[in-house]
Amino acid sequence: MSTRFTTTNNAPDEMNRSAYASPIYITLLSVTTTITNLCLGAITMSALLFIHAFSLPSSMKQHIYLCGIGYMILMAQAIQSLNPHSGWARLVKYQDRRVVHWMLQIVASILVVVGSIIRMMDVTSNFSTAHGILGLIALILTILSMVGGIVSAYSSKLNINPAYMRIAHSCIGSLTLSAAFLCLLFAFNTTFRAGMGNKNANLAIAMTVIGLVGTLTSPCLDVVRRMIRNVRSN
Ligand code: HEM
Repeated sequence: MSTRFTTTNNAPDEMNRSAYASPIYITLLSVTTTITNLCLGAITMSALLFIHAFSLPSSMKQHIYLCGIGYMILMAQAIQSLNPHSGWARLVKYQDRRVVHWMLQIVASILVVVGSIIRMMDVTSNFSTAHGILGLIALILTILSMVGGIVSAYSSKLNINPAYMRIAHSCIGSLTLSAAFLCLLFAFNTTFRAGMGNKNANLAIAMTVIGLVGTLTSPCLDVVRRMIRNVRSN
């Protein structure tokens, strides 16, 4: 009797990769995804608990709600939705995962753009902290990601090699999330630490790192795999 799982919901260009994945590989990925999602939920809750623990200006509350939910929940899930082995995405067909991906990306991008601008308008000397600079970089990369996603979707009509476009889109998407999570890490290290104490801040920072690494491992491996395949086929 076969003890292997069939991965029939792969992207069309991944069909030849391997028709079967070993149960150990699938189990490891499921455990990684579960721990990652637990950490993502925990850091979002930590940020939300922070705003309700103190009386903060409403722009600050809106900023943390919008950027927190946008980057840590929606954008992280948008990236995970393209991983055929990640928790819930395993049960969804490739075409449906693509729709989930762009819908999550659009909603997340709107939330983070609004959340960042609200706070920028309230700060007197803009981009003078590591948090502020990384927040701006994340914002610019978010807009670039959106443009890259649209170009990637129409790459065949635009006469651009879709393989290169996908690699570029994955890289910019991963950089966007990295900048946003580093930005959050600095917020935990300064503002959050001042209010919630060292132990809570250190825990939040550790979970931010796990959340980022867990979310980006699969897309980074995928980029390397696609690059190797392109080099071999040229
Ligand atoms: C991934 C989530 C987040 C992103 C992308 C983000 C992004 C930004 C941006 C773009 C600014 C404006 C910077 C400026 O004009 O100088 C800002 C300011 C600020 N944010 Fe966030 N933020 C996030 C989460 C948080 C959290 C969780 C806190 C609090 C714990 C926080 C606290 C602040 C504060 C105090 C400022 C004003 C001072 C400064 O720039 O450090 N942010 N943020």
